[in-house]
Amino acid sequence: MRRFKAHLLSLPPYTSARDEYEGEARIFLDANENALAEWAAPHHRYPDPHHRALRQALSAYLGTPPDYLLCGAGSDEIINWLLQAIGEPGRDAILTITPTYGVYATYARIHGLAVREVQLNEDFSLPVEQLLSAADDRTPIAFLCRPNNPTGTLWKADAVQAFIDHYPGWVVLDEAYVEFSSEPTGWLKRRQAGTIILRTFSKAWGLAGWRLGYAIADPELVSLFYRTKLPYNLSTPAQQAGIEALNRYPQVLSSIQTILSERHRLLKVLQTLPIVETVFPSETNFLLVRFREARDVYRALLSRGIVVRYRGNLPLCENTLRLTIGTPAENEALLDALREIALHRSSAV
Ligand SMILES: Cc1ncc(COP(=O)(O)O)c(C=O)c1O
Repeated sequence: MRRFKAHLLSLPPYTSARDEYEGEARIFLDANENALAEWAAPHHRYPDPHHRALRQALSAYLGTPPDYLLCGAGSDEIINWLLQAIGEPGRDAILTITPTYGVYATYARIHGLAVREVQLNEDFSLPVEQLLSAADDRTPIAFLCRPNNPTGTLWKADAVQAFIDHYPGWVVLDEAYVEFSSEPTGWLKRRQAGTIILRTFSKAWGLAGWRLGYAIADPELVSLFYRTKLPYNLSTPAQQAGIEALNRYPQVLSSIQTILSERHRLLKVLQTLPIVETVFPSETNFLLVRFREARDVYRALLSRGIVVRYRGNLPLCENTLRLTIGTPAENEALLDALREIALHRSSAV
């Protein structure tokens, strides 16, 4: 069941210029770069296609050998690659839940795969039995987002483990928000063959603009990724930015702590507003909030220059907005705007 597209396995990999020599080199006349472009140095040279230094730094941070690590231009690139490498177009489907991160379904369809979605339970918990009964030999890969976007839920580890234990295909555990959760090491210690842990530098690590993500997976999968991805998928500065962020871990941690205390403060104040129906518990850097009239609140916030995400069109998410936790000043501006909107509503009644 844990298969790749057969033709990929026998494909001779594309080798880039820098792959083809061994030993110490002094002069590089192999890749048709402009060696005179000192204005761009050192970026007049192609980046390392194997991300060696970045994987080494990640390996030290995670305590996981580099051959279990792969890096992509955001975790989105890795999701796209998985859907390209796994599943037969026109025959297979991905298995996932709804509501969840929309990229899994969109890119599955782009790659000719169908999408089998199982709705979460009303309390956003994982419907393990239903998921397992939706699985068969045509669902070679499942996507679970933990903590889940947009619900903010950290499913119980036992429920996820029960699914993994009985599901024969690849299980992707997308941990984009794990650093904000009560289990910041996520599934790392529990990882077993066939699971793919997806992480990103775009959320807690603050590097969304660099496009950097990574996965912890079986060496067989990592090796196939490095044989079939685009040769230079990560720029040199992006790889360096990842290493620098890992070196600044205490700073990252302190920003996470501020976000967590702001999340708590926002939740408490939001619960007191008459336009708010429910603030769902969150283990992420956002809050999913059910309003009485989410569309009106969305528009009223926008007219005050504040953009949030309307999620009311998703199953189980009627009348909800997803609010990212910003700086304390931004959060205060959001609360001020919401208080004002609430006041208008009550005087309009
Ligand atoms: C659950 C989840 N996974 C992955 C991503 C994509 O992250 P990246 O910026 O690394 O592509 C996001 C972005 O919003 C997300 O919410």
